[in-house]
Amino acid sequence: MASPSHPSNILQSDISSHFEKAASTYEHTSAFMKEIAGQLLNLSPTLAPDSVVLDNAAGPGIVTGEILRLPQFKEGNYPTIHATDNSAAMIRALEARAVHESWPKDLVKTHVMDSMDLSTFPDNMFTHIYMAAAIFIIPEPLKAIAEIKRTLKPDGVALVTSFEKQGFIEIFQHVQQAIRPDSPIWKGPMPEEWLKEEKLRAVMEGGGFEGDKVKIQSLGTWMKGEDWSTPGLMLWREPFTKLITNGWSEEETARFEEKLKEDLASETVKSKSYEMKVFVAVATK
Ligand SMILES: C[S@@+](CC[C@H](N)C(=O)[O-])C[C@H]1O[C@@H](n2cnc3c(N)ncnc32)[C@H](O)[C@@H]1O
Repeated sequence: MASPSHPSNILQSDISSHFEKAASTYEHTSAFMKEIAGQLLNLSPTLAPDSVVLDNAAGPGIVTGEILRLPQFKEGNYPTIHATDNSAAMIRALEARAVHESWPKDLVKTHVMDSMDLSTFPDNMFTHIYMAAAIFIIPEPLKAIAEIKRTLKPDGVALVTSFEKQGFIEIFQHVQQAIRPDSPIWKGPMPEEWLKEEKLRAVMEGGGFEGDKVKIQSLGTWMKGEDWSTPGLMLWREPFTKLITNGWSEEETARFEEKLKEDLASETVKSKSYEMKVFVAVATK
């Protein structure tokens, strides 16, 4: 048996290449992210035709898609919406989605742009900025928050999310324990500090928001076990396996992969739902 074994968190280089690969399938496997996006819209000040919105690190426009479905925009007269992501593949996926879903032409203005440098946008531009499920993978999160603060209008509101719990990791932990019961239990792909409310608050304040203008709220939803059989989530198997089997022998890694495949295809996993808990910072400039 190879040793030692150190399950680790996701690496920045892995995550960038992952999102490039995952772009075309992300939207179809992120039902729970769409639900979270809907909840974010309920938490934020009401959007109106004169709102100017940034869907920051938008992926294929998960928040944007939910904005366009809001009842107040049923007759058209949408707000101004910009969507940014540093993955060109994600922005292409968003643009393809706009065509598929017949979003009004040129309504959503897309930009391949790093959240740490929004210099194309002037100060005080946006009334609403949403950054869902991205701050914890940005190399310098304080820069991203400072850019959010700079580009928000006075009294504008930013909603930034992190996770509190990613229930699906128990699937991977179970397989890990079956193959290497001696290895320290894998705590998931995110650095543990990010699972704490204090970290999100510290980043919001470190990026320039005043403490009494940042409220942290909790949201929750469920991810279906059967979603792990969809092409999009299947793409996560490889990077997670790499993290968990760090330091293992080839033979152990092969057994892990085999058991993971079996478990993900099993009725036990497919019929279960896994809790996903989210922290949201609602910050006013
Ligand atoms: C988990 S996805 C979240 C997508 C979407 N906001 C949602 O709610 O599902 C994270 C996104 O952040 C993007 N991303 C990662 N680092 C970034 C950066 N430095 N600047 C801009 N986007 C980034 C990725 O390409 C990916 O689309």
